[in-house]
Amino acid sequence: MLKRILSLLLLVSLSAPFAKADEGMWLPMLIKRLNHADMQKKGLQLTAEEIYNVNNSSLKDAIVQFGGFCTGEFISAEGLLLTNHHCGYGQIQSHSTPENDYLTDGFWAMDRKQELPNEGLFVDILVRMDDVTGKVLEGINNNTPEQERMQLTAQRMQAIAKEASSNGQYVTYVRDFFNGNEFYLFVYERFNDVRLVGTPPSAVGKFGGDTDNWMWPRHTGDFSMFRVYMSPDGKPAAYSDKNVPYKPKHHLPINIGGVEQDDFAMVFGFPGRTKRFMTSEGLKLDVNQLNKSRIKLRDKKLALWKEDMDKSDATRIKYASKHASTANYYKYSIGQNDGIKRMKTVEGKQADEKKFQTWADANAERKALYGTSLKEMNEAYAEIEKYNLGSVYLNEAVLGTEALLFAYRMSALNNALKSGNAEAAKKAAEDLQPRADAFFKDYSMPTDKKVFASMMKFYHEDIAKDQQPEAFKQLVAKYKGDFNKLADYIYSNSFVVDKQKVDKFLANPTQKQLANDPAFALVNSIMENYQTNIAPKLAAANAKLAKANRLYVAGLRQMNPDKVYYPDANSTIRLSYGSVKNYKPVDGVTYETFTTMEGVMQKEDPSNEEFIVPAKLKQLYEAKDYGRYANKDGDLIVNFITDNDITGGNSGSPVINGKGELIGLAFDGNWEAMTGDLVYDPDYKRCINVSANYVLFMVDKYAGASNLINEMTIVSTDSPGATEAGTATAATPADSSAELLNAAVKEAKADLAAGKSSVKVKKKDGKKSVKLEVKN
Ligand code: ARG
Repeated sequence: MLKRILSLLLLVSLSAPFAKADEGMWLPMLIKRLNHADMQKKGLQLTAEEIYNVNNSSLKDAIVQFGGFCTGEFISAEGLLLTNHHCGYGQIQSHSTPENDYLTDGFWAMDRKQELPNEGLFVDILVRMDDVTGKVLEGINNNTPEQERMQLTAQRMQAIAKEASSNGQYVTYVRDFFNGNEFYLFVYERFNDVRLVGTPPSAVGKFGGDTDNWMWPRHTGDFSMFRVYMSPDGKPAAYSDKNVPYKPKHHLPINIGGVEQDDFAMVFGFPGRTKRFMTSEGLKLDVNQLNKSRIKLRDKKLALWKEDMDKSDATRIKYASKHASTANYYKYSIGQNDGIKRMKTVEGKQADEKKFQTWADANAERKALYGTSLKEMNEAYAEIEKYNLGSVYLNEAVLGTEALLFAYRMSALNNALKSGNAEAAKKAAEDLQPRADAFFKDYSMPTDKKVFASMMKFYHEDIAKDQQPEAFKQLVAKYKGDFNKLADYIYSNSFVVDKQKVDKFLANPTQKQLANDPAFALVNSIMENYQTNIAPKLAAANAKLAKANRLYVAGLRQMNPDKVYYPDANSTIRLSYGSVKNYKPVDGVTYETFTTMEGVMQKEDPSNEEFIVPAKLKQLYEAKDYGRYANKDGDLIVNFITDNDITGGNSGSPVINGKGELIGLAFDGNWEAMTGDLVYDPDYKRCINVSANYVLFMVDKYAGASNLINEMTIVSTDSPGATEAGTATAATPADSSAELLNAAVKEAKADLAAGKSSVKVKKKDGKKSVKLEVKN
């Protein structure tokens, strides 16, 4: 009997169209049409409307963009928000002092009054999104001159966003998708009163530090909690003690019943940027210019910062957040360059491009439209290559030096002073004061001075001489190439490195004082040189690139009409779905899906700051006191992996099971898939998550914050699940062995159709279970 099913299944797999399993960052408003059936096959029990609906509450209402750079999700009806520790790190750092060191000790608000406000932090909650491609491209076609197209689309995008904002009530924007082929409008409510509620110590939230970052197996409790507040009449509002907790339209129930290999998992969030349609030549530039320079410059900067952080607690706290974020994409760049070589990514892209060219050339109409796009892109990249380093070094070395960045921020004030508009100057000075306060709070002048000397030396050595401003060359000549002496001169004579002098200046600013400041003069000369000599060339090449790239992507979609394409990540809300899954990092090795508290203790090293285990956690481990958060073997799951397609910006995203319940929190990618932003490889790409059980264990058992536990909706596998929170109706469970078998066959078919060569399906309902194994 089983054999018959197997041969039937094999037939199905041969005739099914090939679709790469679990790849894709999908637009929630399109999943009903594009993905829902596939998601159901994989184990989703929700309707498409329960995931995304603009009229009734749906999953999307629980998801927020956090601070513009991360994702968070509501886990209570009282606006309690869960995100990563590394997403809240800037705020945690900002509230820390050597006396009240929340970085080291953690922080827990035991009642609402203890929650800490955060100047500048906001969350955006999606109201709706619309396809506005027709409106943006009206009357535009492939014969429209590119310049005109750019102007028209930019104007229309702005106009559409402005109209949708209802006079500023909403934060709105139109973004382009598929490299300029489609356009969507996004409408958000922005909440500016977001308070820190809790964080574990860094020894938990950043356990493993930079050594474990971007790596599996992992043992990090990378989470923190915030609360969103609104005005008493339910509107977004600036911080006020009159504000009340936000009432989300939906919050995620948390399932602590445990997760198993192959379980359905979806990740909802705001992935920042992928370059999946980038061609081989673009990739080479990223490897040889962007990544290589980033590695070189950051390596030095990180070492200089660390040297001083190790010497003083105050400096350690001041530079903790800057160091972590700089180190993060430093290691990313190393991993990506390694991966591109190992995975032969350039060669893979080149093969795709060859196929495209052959297809385009095979017919006159296609040839006219798409025949030269690759060639034009290559020409554009060749031009970009000449000037690119100037822009990379501008960000990494010039504005990557704190004093120069701060001096550059005075440009608006400088312009206002120059124009003689006293009113504008006064306003600019007032705007600068809080920024100055924030800047100096986390600034160590002697540390920055060393960084300056190194960064300027690199700039001098690595940037083509004819792309450097005269003023800089003269300075270097004056100090005979001694960058320490140059640093002495700038840092002893500039007022921008001294808080008192800056405050005095801002109280009574003059253009003369600013123009004569050596740090301001230096950054100004570099910026001016960039704007006049480099930026226009890059802009022209980028415009050429954009057009060719848009046509290339349009051509690719025409070439593969059966393939469902998804757009590159662009910080807009996306859903990715897949399953809980292990992987083989190299031949002969399999990495397990789950890590446990055992592993935390195996990694413990009290002499290494990255691997300290807090005493209280150790006690709980020794007593195996994991409460209801333990799994059936009495272990505590710390992290697990899924094959969800994510990238930076997804940090803090909820991992959600088939019933719409939170099972974990996405926080990282893995070393074997550092090329993931360029290509999705189903064998290697994994998403690293903190398990919901570890999060709740930390809040409950470690921190004793039962006030928070009490406001959450906690379910375990055998409870009615999401229905409890009024979201999902659970599908009728298979109640006979035949139904179980049917379900298993259905799933196996789906897996085979998705291109898998061997499939194992397990279905369980109470005591009954069915196992199905198919090998091709
Ligand atoms: N690699 C993670 C991401 O980009 C950030 C992890 C932060 N942890 C750290 N040790 N720096 O989302």
